[in-house]
This record gives sequence, C-alpha cells and structure tokens, in this order.
Amino acid sequence: MTTNTAKVTIIDHPLVQHKLTLMRRKEASTNSFRRMLGELSTLMAYEITRDFPLQDLEIETPMEKMVGKVIDGKKLALVSILRAGNGFLDGMLNVVPGARIGHIGLYRDPQTLQPVEYYFKMPDNMGERDVIVVDPMLATGNSAAAAVQQLKDKCQPKSIKFMCLLAAPEGIATLQKAHPDVPIFTATVDRELNDHGYILPGLGDAGDRIFGTK
Ligand code: URA
Repeated sequence: MTTNTAKVTIIDHPLVQHKLTLMRRKEASTNSFRRMLGELSTLMAYEITRDFPLQDLEIETPMEKMVGKVIDGKKLALVSILRAGNGFLDGMLNVVPGARIGHIGLYRDPQTLQPVEYYFKMPDNMGERDVIVVDPMLATGNSAAAAVQQLKDKCQPKSIKFMCLLAAPEGIATLQKAHPDVPIFTATVDRELNDHGYILPGLGDAGDRIFGTK
C-alpha cells in the first residue's frame, strides 16, 4: 500500500516502517543497520518498480502452452550518490538483478552545504535507460538536485526517479522545485533539518552508519 502526495510517494508498508524504526535507534550496530537497509531497499525496489510495463510471452509449462507476462524490455540503471547510496544497491539488485549501476560522487561543502562533484561514471546507452537515483537521505536536497542535473546534462536518460529512506520537507521542496518531473519515493518524511543540514529526528550520518566510520 502506498500513499501519494503530489509527486512524493511514501512507502508505508508495515515491514518498511518496522525496519526503519529499528535501524534509526542509536544502539543499532553497523551490522544490523546495514542488514536492515538491505532489506528495506529490496522492499522499496518492489514498490518503485510497480509501474513497469508488462508484455506477453508465450511459454510452455509441463502441462500446456500459455501466455504469461514479463517486464517489457526495461533498460534500468540504478545511480548511487556516493557514498551512502551504495547501501541501497545490493538490496535493490535482489529484485532487478540485470540493472546497470552508475555512481555520482558529490560531497557537501560543510560551510555552504552546496554539493561539489568529484566522480561521475555511468553505464553505456544511458539515453535508453530508465534511471533510479538512490541516496538514503534527502536532506537539503542540494546533492540530489545536482546529481539529477548532471544526469540530464550529460546523459539525457529516458526517465528519472529518486529514491531515499528519509526525506526532510526542505529536501523535497528543493528537489521538486529544481526537477518537478522527477518523482520521489521515500519511506518517511521527517520533521526538519538542523543547522548542520542533518535530518531530525533522522538516523544520524547514513554513510557512517553503513560503513562503520565516524
Ligand atoms: N546525510 C546524512 O547522512 N544524514 C543526515 O541527517 C543528512 C544528510
């Protein structure tokens, strides 16, 4: 079950909400945080691919011939915003194992909170691909908006969706303003950002929690 608010889809499945609460806890270990993020990304990928078109395929079961449904030749690319976006990839690949993977490296200047690009590597034929940009935290929205802009400028993908775990209202507003054509999928919308651009109540630094760094 999903709830649509304009172009934001909140994936409110009970399993998603349950796991999200457990992984937010400050005492969650790196191991359990990573495992739950993996499980959540599989569940979220299931929802985000819900609109994929199907086509007929004639097959033969051990009993008889039939016409079944298969996904209609989608060329999908998952684009991870480094480094926390990588935490989404394995779980998503459980349901879309053939997807190609791109990476965009952006770090947030701690003073301006503006994104600075240091890496951009995409699969071939991006112009024919539907893209899901992934980053667990949609905080200021500046990195997400910059990543989508780079993709549009350099690759012109067929379509772009954005997937995160937590979104701040400020981040949603920024991304929607810059890219009103890009639907946002998130497990929840949190209250606000603090002065350092962290989401409240949030879960802390997603990259640090995934990789066990400080
Ligand atoms: N990035 C994070 O990892 N956490 C936040 O709360 C905001 C941005």
